Amino acid sequence: MALHRLTSITMGVPNVAETAAYYTDFGLAPEADGWFATRDAGRQLHIVHAPTRRLVEVRVGADTPDDLAAAASRLHRLGVASRVEGTTLTACDRATGVRAVLDVVPRLVQDPVPAPLYNGPGRADRTGSRAAGVLRTGPVRPRRLGHAVLGTTDFETTTAFFRDGLGFKASDYVKDHGAFLRCSTDHHNVFVIAMPVTFLHHTSWQVDDIDDIGRGAFAMLEDHPERHVWGLGRHHAGSNFFWYLKDPAGNFSEYYSDMDCVVDDQLWTPEVLEGTKGLFDWGPPPPPSFLAPDDLAALMTGSHSAVR
Ligand SMILES: [Fe+2]
Repeated sequence: MALHRLTSITMGVPNVAETAAYYTDFGLAPEADGWFATRDAGRQLHIVHAPTRRLVEVRVGADTPDDLAAAASRLHRLGVASRVEGTTLTACDRATGVRAVLDVVPRLVQDPVPAPLYNGPGRADRTGSRAAGVLRTGPVRPRRLGHAVLGTTDFETTTAFFRDGLGFKASDYVKDHGAFLRCSTDHHNVFVIAMPVTFLHHTSWQVDDIDDIGRGAFAMLEDHPERHVWGLGRHHAGSNFFWYLKDPAGNFSEYYSDMDCVVDDQLWTPEVLEGTKGLFDWGPPPPPSFLAPDDLAALMTGSHSAVR
């Protein structure tokens, strides 16, 4: 048995109320205590106060207490202390200060959402009706949390923490500075990227399909064009369609659909992608602020008190 899901993340921001309002607009359901729920997986985002924006905690579902014991011994071999209490293991990545918690919880089973009918050359799968994507009227509400992207000043240490310690598996690498890691059948649940400062680059949220990516982003941008970051496009690593928006704290949030799924580890061979190959196959060119967010310099000056 093993790790099986990314359960939730906690983000720290200086402006909690403003950021909470953004994620409500984004389609997450606010609860009374700073938590936000997705449609299929319940409480998955916790927003707390921090002096500068950062990833505070990642929670991961494991199958059995034996999985926690195995992680504890792997972490010990890396020289990382961990604490097991009941059905929970807690450990911190010393490079980023991010707290990881493994919880023994049931696997998430999502009800299958049928793919819409698409017409194509020589193929009329939908006749006598407009497309599903133009008939939908309700607000987009993400199904579940997909992944978080963590910038680290010590790529090797943070990658080893998640992969060799906690037990994430590597799906692909970006040469020398990026690791796509999974703790479920998703191509990636955590992407570790070498950066000049530790910060939360983005979180990503699953929606039904490409139409809901477009509808969700369109609604977010209608009164707030400044939220736009990058999209619509298709990534190479993970294959997913994407559209990135920016919250009022500076974190990016992504609507995604159609991500690669790894159910048999033997049938997936990690690749080392070079340059921007892993980034995208089509879409508008990424803005420079996607790779180096506008507040990077400010984070570098403020990061010591926030993280250490
Ligand atoms: Fe992403």
